[in-house]
Amino acid sequence: MRRKLIAGNWKMNGSLAANAVLLNGIKGELGQPACAVAVCVPAPYLAQCRAELAESPVAWGGQDVSVHESGAYTGEISGAMLTDFGARYVIVGHSERRTYHGESNDLVAQKANVALGAGLTPIVCVGESLDERESGRTSAVVGAQIDAVLAVLDPSELSKIVVAYEPVWAIGTGKTATPQMAQDVHAMLRTRLADKSAEAAELIPILYGGSMKPDNARELLAMPDIDGGLIGGASLKAADFLAIVRAA
Ligand code: 13P
Repeated sequence: MRRKLIAGNWKMNGSLAANAVLLNGIKGELGQPACAVAVCVPAPYLAQCRAELAESPVAWGGQDVSVHESGAYTGEISGAMLTDFGARYVIVGHSERRTYHGESNDLVAQKANVALGAGLTPIVCVGESLDERESGRTSAVVGAQIDAVLAVLDPSELSKIVVAYEPVWAIGTGKTATPQMAQDVHAMLRTRLADKSAEAAELIPILYGGSMKPDNARELLAMPDIDGGLIGGASLKAADFLAIVRAA
């Protein structure tokens, strides 16, 4: 039985003061959640997360990782730096990085591999654009994205990843995939994972992301292959994030 995971992706939002309110709001009401809970925050706030969350059930993580270990790579953040601050997770291949920073399937795959090597759990994001969906290319696009990752990972490491299906057209738009639309892609992803390792495919959480909110979380999370959520906007309000955790 896969344990559900609800992970917040704060994107480039927050301040020390606002984060303190948000994290205290989450910690104060969370109790002992039935699912795993995490927040993926801008790197400058990892130390704040470590200070605020160390004694709580909430894990924390970064939003990107360099493929390099160290050296002359201005602006990059290594896996070891993330773990230095107690990060457990790191998002790789978010569509915003693929779109605005030109990250290719191969680069994302390398990042997933480097994250595992550093002892982090990569949350590997995949998803199609509206154009790709409307032209019937969802399976081809998402399949190629996951296959690139499967091609580089050691099979023994595979069960340590998390996958997040985030249709680009649903991110920050208020448009959500219907539970059945998401389930169809999640099932396809699980089949691809099973082609590599049937055992790992049963263990890997596949999260849905894209306008998941308190009012649609329950029906999405009820689908057999939706094992949690990667939450953008709704992770910035403690009450909304907690409502999604409770739905899981
Ligand atoms: P929204 O929940 O704001 O649509 O963002 C989803 C997302 O991109 C999470 O990584």
